[in-house]
Amino acid sequence: MSEHLSDRAYSLARPVAKRMIPPRWREPIRRRLRLPDPEVIELPPTPPDPQIQARAGISRRYGLDPDTLDGALLHDVEIEAIIGAVEARPGGSFLVFGCGNDSRLWERVNRAGRTVFLEHHPEWAARVSETIAAKVVPVSYWTRRTQWADLLDQPERLGMSLPSTIRDHSWDVVFVDGPTGFDDDTPGRMQSIFEASRLVSAGGMVFVHDCERPVEAAYSTVYLGSARQSVSVWGHALLNGYSF
Ligand SMILES: C[S@@+](CC[C@H](N)C(=O)[O-])C[C@H]1O[C@@H](n2cnc3c(N)ncnc32)[C@H](O)[C@@H]1O
Repeated sequence: MSEHLSDRAYSLARPVAKRMIPPRWREPIRRRLRLPDPEVIELPPTPPDPQIQARAGISRRYGLDPDTLDGALLHDVEIEAIIGAVEARPGGSFLVFGCGNDSRLWERVNRAGRTVFLEHHPEWAARVSETIAAKVVPVSYWTRRTQWADLLDQPERLGMSLPSTIRDHSWDVVFVDGPTGFDDDTPGRMQSIFEASRLVSAGGMVFVHDCERPVEAAYSTVYLGSARQSVSVWGHALLNGYSF
């Protein structure tokens, strides 16, 4: 057999040699056919993930570790939209339904103002509390997402029991990213969106995350009003902003 293989024979022989030939025969055959050692084939370096870099840039801007937002369920474009609203109201108040891996950032962005997180899941609240200075206020929701269509036109049933420190204040920015609403066994965001419409100040803004989902879309339209919608950003999910 000739030592030389045509380009076509070479390209056919190589994957066959890798796939089917028993390991002890591979080395002599590889030498005879002059096949390259697969070990020396180098993969190109993995390109950096632009989303990780963008969020690391935001964290650094606020003096936080670059990995602060790892695990947060918001992309940079969504985060920037909310930052813009908070910074436009310096020293203002910021109410967040649902704490998480973004809470540390919100506290830092609004460090000259007052930031409060409302959370229904005790273990999750305890875990996030270790990463932030603010107290996470426990709340409860009586709903299940499956009830959303029935409750849509029953505002008298959507009110939450909230401490006076929350209820008696008008909030400059309200961000609804809780409670959970990913399936019918979760509470759904019917009550939090309804309450956001009552708690926001005149001149304030309400942001609702996951507005591509039917419940968030319907309750935002009815209780926040499509005429008030001033921001819409697709990142991890659809974030809508409503100006009051
Ligand atoms: C959709 S998450 C988003 C929270 C935050 N904005 C973020 O991006 O990290 C909102 C709610 O999901 C629930 N949740 C999120 N992660 C959880 C976890 N690892 N364990 C339990 N509940 C969790 C919490 O109740 C929380 O209020």
